[in-house]
Amino acid sequence: MMSIKDIIKERRSIRAFKDSAISKTALMEILEAGLYAPTACNLQLMEYIVITDKALKDQLVKRANASTRIKGAPVAILILYDKRYHGAPNYNFIQSASASIENMLLRATELGLGSLWIGDVGTPSIVNEIVKAPDFLMPVAFVLLGLPSEAPPQPIRRPLESLIHWNTFADKAVHFPSSCNPKNWSVIQYSEFQKRHIRFGSRFSSTSEESRVLAEMLKEYVGGLTLDLLSSPGTHLYNLGESLESMVFYEQSYEIVRFINNRLSKKGLHPSGIVGQGSRLPFREGSFDRVICYCKMEQYPGPYQLLVEARRVLKRGGLLLLVSRNLLSYRGLLGQLNRWIRDDAESVLRYHGPLRLHSSRELIRNVRKVGLNIRKTVGVTDSKKAESWRKHFCRLIFIECQKT
Ligand SMILES: Cc1cc2nc3c(=O)[nH]c(=O)nc-3n(C[C@H](O)[C@H](O)[C@H](O)COP(=O)(O)O)c2cc1C
Repeated sequence: MMSIKDIIKERRSIRAFKDSAISKTALMEILEAGLYAPTACNLQLMEYIVITDKALKDQLVKRANASTRIKGAPVAILILYDKRYHGAPNYNFIQSASASIENMLLRATELGLGSLWIGDVGTPSIVNEIVKAPDFLMPVAFVLLGLPSEAPPQPIRRPLESLIHWNTFADKAVHFPSSCNPKNWSVIQYSEFQKRHIRFGSRFSSTSEESRVLAEMLKEYVGGLTLDLLSSPGTHLYNLGESLESMVFYEQSYEIVRFINNRLSKKGLHPSGIVGQGSRLPFREGSFDRVICYCKMEQYPGPYQLLVEARRVLKRGGLLLLVSRNLLSYRGLLGQLNRWIRDDAESVLRYHGPLRLHSSRELIRNVRKVGLNIRKTVGVTDSKKAESWRKHFCRLIFIECQKT
């Protein structure tokens, strides 16, 4: 039998379920676990709507804008709570509902079922209209249940000491600027953001067509000792596969190096990760035959300094292989527009963190400025490569440059 400690650690957010239904007995056990959670003043003002009907789920997604994930599980329990009691300032009605939710997730784990907490319920008034619930009930969340068809790894948790304060608050956290512009970020903030990013763990699975094409292009250059610069989250290294043999990768924290090593070891790959902090790389001048810098120029707070350092650590005749997302592409411009409109803390945390796209002209100018010779510029969009004027408008730009 699993201990409560094991259950707490075993619980995972499951986002892929088998088609088969779950037993009524298990469902009732899970609902009962919800009932035994604490509620403010023991008022027990929660209601659980067990939704199995596909048409109803469709309506919730289409009309109320609820998360599409509810369609992927055999059961979605909608947890509602009477919002007339215990509102501001403590919002105890949400706290009470949340206690129910967590109890359900833990009991589901104990019963070997997969579960997911979905806060994205959609527009409350429309949700209530669809499920025929009165307005005073607040739809707080869905709990999805089913037999899991995936076993995601445990997302990384923050180090425990970083969030504990004894008696009074001692600010140990690194706060992020409320702006996406890398100019407003420090290198430490950037590195902390990368840590946040990898803690989402399960999201790093897909490989785009473009990244496959670029991996093939980069493989052609493998030879001698290669440095991969700022490798988080490691997707491009994963795509490079066996060619990593003579490669060292550089990152700014052990946590990220461990995360990348973990990803790559699943493919039997074990390149060595070197950790450093600050804008100077911990390598001697002329150490590498190749340096790869993959989509970091547009994120790093000191992109120009990054180029200077990349050049310094290259041997004479060595190549810098620079890949960057392009401002002057359809998606680049749309993304830029979005960032101009919503350059706030929420978009920083939800989306990219620091990001300022460059045009190919700007990249080329900077590369030349640090004293590197450009040998080739190629644009990549989906599976297509472009070498003529079109390359300036592709989503990704690849620049091969040499230290002479
Ligand atoms: C309040 C709340 C809302 C959440 N909403 C969603 C959601 O809308 N969609 C989703 O896929 N996951 C959602 N989650 C799950 C989190 O993404 C997940 O708990 C987190 O990534 C940690 O992973 P773990 O649950 O496997 O430990 C939510 C979790 C909480 C606590």
